[in-house]
Amino acid sequence: MALIYIDDLKNHIAEEIKISGWLYNKRSSGKVRFLVIRDGTGILQCVMVKGIIQDDVFNLFDTITQETSLHVFGKIKKDDRAPGGFEMELTNIQIIAIAKEYPITPKEHGVEFLMDLRHLWLRSSRQHAILRIRHQIIKAIREFFDNRGFILMDAPIITPAACEGTSTLFETDYFDLGKAYLTQSGQLYGEAGAMAHGKIYVFGPTFRAEKSKTRRHLTEFWMVEPEVAFADLNDNMELAEEFLEHIVTSVLKYRSAELKTLERNISILEKVKKPFPRVSYSEAVEILKKEGIDFEWGNDFGGTDETIISEGFDRPVIVHRYPAKVKAFYMKRDPQNPDLALAMDVLAPEGYGEIIGGSQREDDFDLLVQRIKEHNLPQSAFDWYLDLRRYGSVPHAGFGLGVERTVGWICGLEHVRETIPFPRMIYRLTP
Ligand code: 4AD
Ligand code: MG
Repeated sequence: MALIYIDDLKNHIAEEIKISGWLYNKRSSGKVRFLVIRDGTGILQCVMVKGIIQDDVFNLFDTITQETSLHVFGKIKKDDRAPGGFEMELTNIQIIAIAKEYPITPKEHGVEFLMDLRHLWLRSSRQHAILRIRHQIIKAIREFFDNRGFILMDAPIITPAACEGTSTLFETDYFDLGKAYLTQSGQLYGEAGAMAHGKIYVFGPTFRAEKSKTRRHLTEFWMVEPEVAFADLNDNMELAEEFLEHIVTSVLKYRSAELKTLERNISILEKVKKPFPRVSYSEAVEILKKEGIDFEWGNDFGGTDETIISEGFDRPVIVHRYPAKVKAFYMKRDPQNPDLALAMDVLAPEGYGEIIGGSQREDDFDLLVQRIKEHNLPQSAFDWYLDLRRYGSVPHAGFGLGVERTVGWICGLEHVRETIPFPRMIYRLTP
């Protein structure tokens, strides 16, 4: 028999069906007993009344502990008061496995306790909602690029050199070939892909040995990186705003129940429509100064600076043309002012900070060699990358969106640790 799922009950009203799941909660009032079952897709309240149901089934109520796995049988009726809008009139119960005393109870637990039990915490309604929104975001990301003719380009995870600075590399020995590093970004490989296919996206896990303990940093996170041949910084900004609008629209459309579970204020998300405001780095510095921040032109923004800059806007804001010296080696300089890089960051509203970082790339061979030297990077490891400038170099641009920061912002979460099933942070490697 095909399984019937709770999220499909509207098609089974008045039918006698079986639902397979786990006990989420139970309560009793007089001769009536309620079992609240979760099956992964939703929550269903099941009712039985003493005298109407067989006594041996009725008495199972006392045996069934939280998270016991079971099949429940009964008739489905609509009930607006019940969670999910349906109720089952139980006729039978089959226990699969009685659960031992479950460590996560409806009372408040500390975050570290819950993080240690992350493998079980995933079953809780809040975590369940967050990971369904994450799924939707990833689906919307793929849909956006696939519908626009971008080709998925998988980049290696084990790499010979740094992409985003040498201070956050995870290092490992690689047989007889010396050191290898976990990738910080698939971008350089994505550029090769763009020269082969025109427009591509890399989508995979990336790694940064971040020594900082903040609410925005993981050591392992997922990044999607489009790269487009014959695109400049302006095209890049347009692509980024269309992309973010698509993601948010998709979550609002398909995951409103989950946003409600999270008590997310969706009126703010509804404002995420292009065009996004654009400010240059220098204008952003002026915003900070007006807010009384002692900030020196030329430095990179910290998390708090980003929060302050974005506070004046009701949707994501694009900051462009950063000082070249705070940005990566591969960025093209602004022809109007060579101290600036043709870079852009998209800052999410409500203080969530940078969710996208990108740029137009240096397409001149000699200048790129010079940058590699200036950044003390081993030129031999980048010789293949320089080939992209030797053989038919073209202007091109791209960006990277961090999935976890995006999930955190859209869900309205305090910390990125809840945005990925099993977070990796400087102080956490388990479960
Ligand atoms: O700004 P980043 O470092 O850019 C790059 O890696 C470029 N190669 C992307 C490109 O142009 N193809 O990182 C891009 C995004 C950030 O905006 C942020 O959302 C996320 O990746 N990110 C992190 N997310 C969680 N934890 C970390 N430690 C992160 N570091 C970056
Ligand atoms: Mg960045």
